[in-house]
Amino acid sequence: MINGNTKVVGLIGNPVEHSFSPAMHNSAFDKLGLNYRYLAFKVEEKSLKRAIYGAENLNMIGLNVTIPHKINVIKYLDDLDPVASKIGAVNTIDLRTLKGYNTDGVGAMRALEEVTSLKGKNVVVAGAGGASRAICFNLVEKNVGSLTILNRNVEKASLLSGEIGVNYDSINEIASYLEDADILIDTTPIGMDPNINDKPIATSDMMHEDLVVNDIVYNPLETVLLKEASKVGDKTVSGLKMLLYQGVESFKIFTGVEAPVDVMENELLKLI
Ligand code: ATR
Repeated sequence: MINGNTKVVGLIGNPVEHSFSPAMHNSAFDKLGLNYRYLAFKVEEKSLKRAIYGAENLNMIGLNVTIPHKINVIKYLDDLDPVASKIGAVNTIDLRTLKGYNTDGVGAMRALEEVTSLKGKNVVVAGAGGASRAICFNLVEKNVGSLTILNRNVEKASLLSGEIGVNYDSINEIASYLEDADILIDTTPIGMDPNINDKPIATSDMMHEDLVVNDIVYNPLETVLLKEASKVGDKTVSGLKMLLYQGVESFKIFTGVEAPVDVMENELLKLI
């Protein structure tokens, strides 16, 4: 029931119309009987400052932030979580304290840790964009054994790896890196609907049977890369898990209570 006590959280970005976050969070509020509602707000870049302070002054509880505002929003915040500060991007704001967090990378770690430990592991990350950045900064916090960023644009990989202090190379060299890898994470959009038959970054002949393969694309759930991994019996982690756990971590920041993970996952599965 919506009444005078309803607490409001939401998403700001552009576009936001197709986001799964409202359904995912509202299903969790319903399950726990919390008097919260989650709404999506389309915000133009020129209106970002007024949107943030407006939401704060309406005593809204918190916001998720998506493209194109994840970087620009930082200048309007009073406080920044250390990992969000290193990444230089925020996807969650606690409006009560105007503090920014980044749960994208944390969510990815939780998704991976469901199937493997990270400490000491040799990790290969394909792609050097925003998602790769959030994931790689969190991976080094987990004391992985080695981290190599592979990218089509090698210069971009060089810049990101230099900031973090890890290795980099061209994506064309992926086969040789996979020989000694424990975990492969694909942060590129390859295989995303409608391009579901794109050539994957790696094929089954390059994958040994103990590799863990994670694709951040969740639409389709089983991407062309994950199909290749399944051929050799590798453990796979779908992009749905990262989407789920970034939401789970944000939910905890908004409400202070643990999220009902199964409810949120089932809601996502209905939508995908
Ligand atoms: P995101 O914020 O989701 O990470 P992004 O910042 O646009 O998105 O980054 C996309 C990444 O996927 C980049 O590393 C990009 O490689 P380039 O830096 O060479 O452009 C990579 N990427 C996108 N399409 C690709 C393709 N067809 N083959 C290989 N890499 C691709």
